[in-house]
Amino acid sequence: MTTNRLTVSGLSTCFPTEDGLVRSVADVSFGIAPGKTTAIVGESGSGKSVTSLTLMRLLPKTARAQVEGSARFVTRAGTEVDLLTLADAPMRALRGNELAMIFQEPMTSLNPVFTVGEQIAESVRLHKRLDRSAALAHAKRMLDLVEIPAAAQRLHEYPHQLSGGMRQRVMIALAMACDPTLLIADEPTTALDVTIQAQILVLMRRLQAETGMSILFITHNLGVVAHHADDVVVMYAGRVVESAPVRPLFASPAHPYTQGLLACLPGKAHAAGQPRPKHLFAIRGQVSSPLAPPPGCAFEPRCDQAIPACAQAVPPLVPTDESRQARCIRVPSVERNAA
Ligand SMILES: Nc1ncnc2c1ncn2[C@@H]1O[C@H](COP(=O)(O)OP(=O)(O)OP(=O)(O)O)[C@@H](O)[C@H]1O
Ligand SMILES: [Mg+2]
Repeated sequence: MTTNRLTVSGLSTCFPTEDGLVRSVADVSFGIAPGKTTAIVGESGSGKSVTSLTLMRLLPKTARAQVEGSARFVTRAGTEVDLLTLADAPMRALRGNELAMIFQEPMTSLNPVFTVGEQIAESVRLHKRLDRSAALAHAKRMLDLVEIPAAAQRLHEYPHQLSGGMRQRVMIALAMACDPTLLIADEPTTALDVTIQAQILVLMRRLQAETGMSILFITHNLGVVAHHADDVVVMYAGRVVESAPVRPLFASPAHPYTQGLLACLPGKAHAAGQPRPKHLFAIRGQVSSPLAPPPGCAFEPRCDQAIPACAQAVPPLVPTDESRQARCIRVPSVERNAA
């Protein structure tokens, strides 16, 4: 068995607020193998960004987040560290180096007063200890790598002079400049139109094939996951409700929420052999507030398959075969079958 690049176990993140404790992420566990992509999928507010920001230790200090669990990361040199408890200095050294992150909106990460070349060069200078001209030359190579035309000229432009797609490429260049072993991409293409979105996802896959980096890919769109992930973690109201390799997940979704998400997809990414829905389906109702979660399964109020027992206790996440897990009392676990 290969060792995972990242193994997250029992991750919980709570925020104390005036209205009480907000449990944004509860007991989340998953792994990412070297060179592979794990996607976290879930609708708005399910805890995807809080998960990624907790792992990167980028939650604002003012949020006074209470974090539990572990996130074992294996560095390129083979050293194992826990990202949640690592001291600040080595964590800063990992971030922007072996660990990189790209966000949905590039303007939140790009500095408007520096040229794109200066920004990439500065990051490279810090982490790779290159002098100014070597760093700028490296920055140009990075822009070439992410297929930005006329890179030598773009190097001297400011972020506002670029289109949304070009800015996202610059963000990826910035993330790739220090050759990360793990890239966390939080909705990297949501703000872009569909054609540009596809180009960026293909670019990320090419870079992954060339560098062997692992990717944690965060999205609310199960459709893009079909072609760009190896493993899928479906989150609902802060918890993992299902995790599986991508093919079996699409072929036979176990959790009613995953089934609902799949039914929402317009035909193309639908599992082969399954009838396409005539009309686009939408899951009724909305996610419960993380301040007042229901006592039972969080999806129960919206679930067409619910039985009275679903409302009584949060179901455990159980293995349903050797590579899959689901959190639904109606889904038989392999353990229960064996018993
Ligand atoms: N600092 C904070 N204090 C209190 N609650 C917070 C804080 N940050 C996030 N939350 C809450 O945590 C929950 C999960 O938020 P998160 O941003 O992770 O969702 P998401 O899955 O990334 O959604 P989206 O698809 O909209 O990006 C939300 O209910 C959000 O309001
Ligand atoms: Mg988010």
